[in-house]
Amino acid sequence: MSRKIKIALIGYGYWGPNVARNLFKNEEYEFVVICDKRNDRIKLAKKVYANAVLYTEDYKEILSDATIDAVALAVETSAHYILAKEVLQAGKHVYVEKPFTDNVKDAQELYELASEKNLRIHVDHIMVYHPVIKKIKEIINSGDLGEIIYFDCSRINLGNIKNDVSSMWDLSVHDLSIIDYLTGGAEPLDVMAMGKKAYSCKESIVFLTLKYEKFLANITSSWLSPIKERRLIIAGSKKMLVYDDVDVLNKLIVYDKGFDIEKPVNMEYDEFVIKTRSGDAIIPKLTQGDALYNSLEHFRQCVIQDKESITNAQSAIRMLKILEQADKEL
Ligand SMILES: NC(=O)c1ccc[n+]([C@@H]2O[C@H](COP(=O)([O-])OP(=O)(O)OC[C@H]3O[C@@H](n4cnc5c(N)ncnc54)[C@H](O)[C@@H]3O)[C@@H](O)[C@H]2O)c1
Repeated sequence: MSRKIKIALIGYGYWGPNVARNLFKNEEYEFVVICDKRNDRIKLAKKVYANAVLYTEDYKEILSDATIDAVALAVETSAHYILAKEVLQAGKHVYVEKPFTDNVKDAQELYELASEKNLRIHVDHIMVYHPVIKKIKEIINSGDLGEIIYFDCSRINLGNIKNDVSSMWDLSVHDLSIIDYLTGGAEPLDVMAMGKKAYSCKESIVFLTLKYEKFLANITSSWLSPIKERRLIIAGSKKMLVYDDVDVLNKLIVYDKGFDIEKPVNMEYDEFVIKTRSGDAIIPKLTQGDALYNSLEHFRQCVIQDKESITNAQSAIRMLKILEQADKEL
């Protein structure tokens, strides 16, 4: 496809305006319609985009417009499945916010529908398109960290409690997508989770622990924390790194820290000395770029080049399987 991709957005609540801004910024898209069933949200959108796009409260108008190639969904998670299904049935490619759906069965059905119709599904696992995560992937692939021993992820803050999903489905899905991407789709052997429902009918705090064949992952998600943390620690056998997204200056630091195993010459044959190593800390140079812009651009490339998204339905299903398994533990 050589022409511009004609795209519409459904959902202009909290996150939709960010999707709209990035669609508008990308001149390779022809951003044509903003839809929200709430008139107050449409009024807000009109203040920003005036006559640059069309507006509707009825998403069916988008589905029946044969000239629209693709639809971006920024609606509540519980509405993803039904809307994505209708978009695909209308013969359009679909960009869906994370998490893809609220269960594996629906996600599988959408995957099969898209495959049947040769349409693209792109799930906005936004962290995969983040410059810091791209850099971490480079570092891991270069062998600099050695064998990964564990991931320790923390996504905690006060507020924004949701009722249609737990903190784990809302927040930990980001960390699961990071681990999935950095490890080339590794799947856990064991899933453990503990959580607490407070101020919501779903869990507001969850401790999720995963055992993979070669490493462990500990993932905390919480809407009940007095401080904000968006932190990832990866410990490797050679080096370790910390990605602190809240730190404005030093988001990513790679530490030459770990343990060296030595066998002194005068010791018996099975005696070793384990010494801690505390070398330099390096702040790698990062490329600039907006993760959401990159995600939407990747979706566009997939549509024009007729190729699978890195964060396609199958990768999203791997994450949903973990979340469903964890729900049973809760
Ligand atoms: N990628 C990220 O980092 C990120 C961040 C925040 C939210 N999200 C995701 O974005 C999605 C939306 O979250 P939110 O916080 O903006 O929710 P929200 O409730 O603030 O907004 C959803 C909007 O969709 C509209 N809507 C719902 N069903 C509709 C329909 N059938 N037709 C037209 N409009 C409809 C609602 O009226 C509402 O304005 C969720 O899936 C969430 O997980 C992603």
